[in-house]
Amino acid sequence: MIEILTAAQIDRARATGALVADILHTLKDRARVGTNLLDIDRWAQKMIEDAGADSCYVDYAPSFGSGPFGHYICTAVNDAVLHGLPHDYTLADGDLLTLDLAVSLHGIAADSAISFIVGTTRDPEDERMIETTQRALAAGIAAARPGGRIGDISRAIGTVLKGDGYPINMEFGGHGIGTTMHQDPHVANDGRPGRGYVLRPGLLLAIEPWIMADTDQLVTDADGWTLRSATGARTAHSEHTIAITEDGAEILTLPTR
Ligand code: MF3
Ligand code: CO
Repeated sequence: MIEILTAAQIDRARATGALVADILHTLKDRARVGTNLLDIDRWAQKMIEDAGADSCYVDYAPSFGSGPFGHYICTAVNDAVLHGLPHDYTLADGDLLTLDLAVSLHGIAADSAISFIVGTTRDPEDERMIETTQRALAAGIAAARPGGRIGDISRAIGTVLKGDGYPINMEFGGHGIGTTMHQDPHVANDGRPGRGYVLRPGLLLAIEPWIMADTDQLVTDADGWTLRSATGARTAHSEHTIAITEDGAEILTLPTR
């Protein structure tokens, strides 16, 4: 299903996006050497509940996971990249952490992810990889305009990722979002310009370039959720929810402070 939101719904999406971004950045500030992933999950739960919002994850049971997710945020460390199920793990100096959060507020969802280093950077390649996903995200957003097509966004992302020498996994990518978190159209992290669904005002998209340093192959953890690089290589992920407007793309998941 593809949804086109009304102006009133886009307004609500702005509020949801700001909430998601503020929670993510608060958690980024709090995540230190010695922080447990389950603490981050509890903090996320509290902030979601205090805001009167609903988690898009806790009861979510898609075909690509095993049973309801049961947690409030995805926490992926080092070689883990997507759908990181929070578990009893204490962050160490130099860990590469990805936080991915989606919530719904007044019936409209927003989804965003950030990667960062906990404590001191051990390998400059980690920073380079994170920066590549941020630049790919910016390029994808810049390519999103009314009358354009999904393939324009995919190509812009893929050009940056490949240009920096990273392989691209085509199984998981961005997606439409609105009254629910995962909708059509799929936004692959590489593709052909001029192809795919035509972008129109009122369409909300979650755009999410993610990479693994030396492979495009994923393996699933014993937890049935967490996806890791098949080689054990480190990974990075950057995601924003945007709205297509008459003028172009508006980023909804920017922090307000
Ligand atoms: N927010 C993720 C995405 O970017 C999806 C997480 S699904 C979960 O699309 F079930 F793992 F939480
Ligand atoms: Co998403």
